[in-house]
Order: sequence, then structure tokens, then C-alpha cells
Amino acid sequence: MEAAVRGEKPEIVVCGHICLDVIPRFAGGAARLEEVLVPGKLVNVGPAVTATGGVVSNTGLALHRLGVPTRLMGKLGDDLFGHALLEILRGYDSALAEGMIVAAGASTSYTVVISPPGVDRIFLHCPGANDTFGAEDVPYDQLAGARIFHFGYPPLMKRMYADGGVELETLLRRVKERGLITSLDMARPDPASEAGRARWRELLARVLPHVDLFLPSLDEILFMLGRESGGEGVLRETAEELISLGAAVVGLKLGSGGWYLRTTADQSRLTPLRACVSQVEAWADRELLAPCFAVEVVGTTGSGDCSVAGFLAGLIYGLSPEETMTSAVAVGACNVEAADATSGIPTWPEVQTRVRGGWARRAVALPLPGWEWDEQAAIWRGPAEARRERC
Ligand SMILES: Nc1ncnc2c1ncn2[C@@H]1O[C@H](COP(=O)(O)OP(=O)(O)OP(=O)(O)O)[C@@H](O)[C@H]1O
Ligand SMILES: [Mg+2]
Repeated sequence: MEAAVRGEKPEIVVCGHICLDVIPRFAGGAARLEEVLVPGKLVNVGPAVTATGGVVSNTGLALHRLGVPTRLMGKLGDDLFGHALLEILRGYDSALAEGMIVAAGASTSYTVVISPPGVDRIFLHCPGANDTFGAEDVPYDQLAGARIFHFGYPPLMKRMYADGGVELETLLRRVKERGLITSLDMARPDPASEAGRARWRELLARVLPHVDLFLPSLDEILFMLGRESGGEGVLRETAEELISLGAAVVGLKLGSGGWYLRTTADQSRLTPLRACVSQVEAWADRELLAPCFAVEVVGTTGSGDCSVAGFLAGLIYGLSPEETMTSAVAVGACNVEAADATSGIPTWPEVQTRVRGGWARRAVALPLPGWEWDEQAAIWRGPAEARRERC
């Protein structure tokens, strides 16, 4: 695994949210919360489990495990938790810590996870450096040679969602000036929080013209657009609204429903994809739905981030839209076979071997009127595809 990154130029830069999880281990059986958290009481716990979380860690490490040379760009403080976070990354590969931004005076974001057996988890979360992350924090000269810039979780980064996304637009514009494909993922903000009340529609209108690949979950984007959930028509209407706001490629994560893809019909808007794809026409006016692969689900932590890694790796390897979508759901499926965020992800050749080996797909519960099942590609083709073929 080490050789995949060291000495090789990064193909993908994963930038944005990262935090350190500190998880005290509780012994014994089910407890009542009021027996655990009693003012004045000393509670004995076991050694803490520490782990990294956030898009930089999840999508970044998943890409690294697949074997794609990847640079991680999250912001940390020059403090004890920052050093711990860098140490964890170096444990995977020393090169993974090299792109991290260590900012004097910032405090590293961390979460203390209080999770006694039988009690609902409590998270004590410090947003720290994620909230102070601004366009000026990105060392743009370090993007040279990379082909994709993936950014994650504006809803968990205060300066990125403030003022209708002015700062995020500046950041993405500067990345675009350097010729990289830009990619963006979201997270669901708590509706009652400051992030939940942010002007999301205004932000999307401002930033999406600078976003080539927009890859949110369906539920979070419905929230941001103030739309109701519903049938397959909602997928199309939502994605087409996002394309009309400026995105070139929209991938919507549907949980156990798989991935939905809709792309712009405007071939000139797809030009940036040339960094990875020889025939961008193949990406124009597409509508596909890739069902999930059938697996035994152990845990879904990081499944969205890992499936994004599969999608981005597909593009880096110049695959077709059908194969790229299949890679997204395949890497997502590998994630849910393990409890944690990335340990289930094998190498890229192993994923491809598994896909070619007749790995069964789950049935899609959503009714798909007017859609066609393509047996060879093992993917659903939407009504927009049929119109495309007639042209
Ligand atoms: N039960 C499952 N079986 C197989 N694959 C799954 C299952 N659940 C999720 N996946 C894979 O993971 C992908 C991403 O899941 P999901 O849509 O929940 O992402 P998300 O909402 O971004 O999640 P999160 O941000 O919480 O990781 C799915 O599109 C699918 O490919
Ligand atoms: Mg997600």
C-alpha cells in the first residue's frame, strides 16, 4: 500500500472537514445514563480508541486504499490533538500527513464519543479549525499535477456556508483556475442549527457553476432545496435543478437504493472532464441508476464517502459513466461490510475482480416507470437516456 503514494504525484486532492474522534471504552453491560454521568462521580473507563473522521479522512483514506495517489488537505491546530491526528495518518502512510494544513493558533476539531453499552451515544463535538477554514488556507501551488479536487462538508465548516457561500466560491474558483476537475460533497445540517438556517439555495447558485461533480446524498440536498421526497421523478427534477444552477455532473447517493446520475446535455460544460476522460460526449445528457451490491451489512459509517472514492477513482481510470457508477456502489458496498469507515476497502484491482465475478445486485425498491434495465452493464437507464439514443 505504501508504494501507492510515496514518490508518486497525487492524482486527487481531498480537502475540507477532518476531526479526531476520542472514544473511551466502557466495560460491563447495559447502563443507565444517569448512572454513568453523575456529577462528582469518578467513572472508570478503558483505554480510549482514537480515529480520524470527516471527508478528508474517509474519502481520502478510501482512495489511498484503492491505490489512487491522494493528497489529504484538512486544517489542524498545532496542538496535542493535531499531532495525534497527524500520527494516525502517518500510521497509514507517512506521505498522507504531508498535505495537511497546520495553522498556528487554530484548535484541532475533535469529538468525544460517550457510548456506554445500551445507551444512546452522546457526542461532545468541537468544530475547531473546520470553522475557521477559509479560501486562504488552501496551498494552491500544491495542487499542481493533480486531476481532481474533492471538497467536503460545507455544512460543517462555518466560513464555507456563511454569507451565501462567498468564501467557498472563492476557493473553488481558485482551484478551477488551476485546471482541476472540482468535486463537492455535502452533509446534512441540523435544521435547528446555524448551518441548518444558512441560505443553501443561494449558496448552491453561487458555487455550482464552479463544481464539475456534485455528489450529495439525496436527503441532504432535498433539505437544502426545500423539496419533498418522492418517486424517481424527484431524482430527475432535483438533479436537473442542480444542473441548471451550474453543476455538470450530479450524482445523488440513495443509501440502500444505490446511486443516481444525471449529467448536463451541454458538452462545453463537460470540457473540464477531459483531464480524466478521452470522450466527454459519453458523459453528456446521461441518466443512470446503479443498484447496490448485495452484502452483509455490518456498519454504514463512511459509506457515502467511500462510494464517492469509488466514483472518483472510476474517473481517474477513465471509465465510462456506467462503469464509474458501478465502481461507486461497489466501493460503498465494501465499506458497509466493515464496522468502521475505511477498513473494508480493498485495492482497485480487487474491487474490479469482484464486480466481474458475478457479484449480485440488490433489487431497487423505488418504482422506475419508463426505465430500462441494461443487463450487460447491470444498470438502470432512465427516460432521458432513451431520448438521447433517439437523437
Ligand atoms: N445496505 C447497503 N448495501 C450495500 N451498499 C450500501 C448499503 N448502504 C449503503 N451502501 C452504499 O453506500 C452508498 C452511500 O450510502 P449513503 O447514500 O447512505 O451515503 P451518505 O448519505 O453520504 O452516507 P454517510 O454520509 O452517512 O456516509 C450507497 O449509495 C451504496 O452504494
Ligand atoms: Mg455523506
